[in-house]
Amino acid sequence: MPSIVVVGSVNLDLVATVDRLPTPGETVTGADLNRFPGGKGANQALAAKRLGADVTLVACVGDDAAADEALALLREEGVELGMCQRIAGARSGTALIAVAASGENHIVVAPGANRALTPELLRLPEADALICQLETPIETIVRAAAEFTGWFVVNLAPAMHVDVSVLQRADLVVVNESEAAWYGDSLRACSGMIATTFGAAGAVLSKRGEDLARTKPPRIEAVDTTAAGDTFTAALTVALAEGQEPEEALKFACAAGAAAATKLGAQPSLPTRDDVIRLLADGGG
Ligand code: RIB
Repeated sequence: MPSIVVVGSVNLDLVATVDRLPTPGETVTGADLNRFPGGKGANQALAAKRLGADVTLVACVGDDAAADEALALLREEGVELGMCQRIAGARSGTALIAVAASGENHIVVAPGANRALTPELLRLPEADALICQLETPIETIVRAAAEFTGWFVVNLAPAMHVDVSVLQRADLVVVNESEAAWYGDSLRACSGMIATTFGAAGAVLSKRGEDLARTKPPRIEAVDTTAAGDTFTAALTVALAEGQEPEEALKFACAAGAAAATKLGAQPSLPTRDDVIRLLADGGG
């Protein structure tokens, strides 16, 4: 069982399901509203846990009721939360999400307490691998990249400027198609592996411009793609940390991401290892 530390965000997701997403300036009505635990960091932590890793989450939440709601599944399922700090007077991170019948979404995040995860508050336990994303201050990611001695993974989401030292340090960088386009040539600074996802078209794992593996996910009926990328990131990290070969690891990660798209909500949709194995067996890959 690999040990994984996730440095990242915790949000409460307020999710409106609608027939179609509004265009700018348009109002659409008739939505159903739900609340789910979310946040890229928290989703990746729980996904890794459900896939069999031993996981510690380093994060900040507010001192409000939303914090308990956002942490509920992580706590219930045994993610180590001793390094998750409550920030007095802060609101917990909140994401406003609209999900269309096609499974596509729009997400707006109000980071709240996630902004408080500064380098001064960062404490890193020993672990085989560390995963971070970009919903917490970039300086903290820079510090984590410099201090952590194990396998370092960065999911460059949401796309924003990141210090080149992070790209140079990363053993694995994960981007989706639009993030890959946003970063463009700056990804050439990466000396480790880059995993690029293309939704239903699959994913590519490469290193210094050379493909290591390519795969397509099993065919699924997409209900909500929220957290599919988080699940892919966690699954690829777990698989590679276990010593799986690139091809096998990428196939596992694509199937895990696809499984997460079959259910509504971020954390309720994260698959277990058995779910992924079943999907690979039933749906090809
Ligand atoms: O990646 C999905 C996540 O992005 C959601 O759970 C939401 O909280 C936003 O952070």
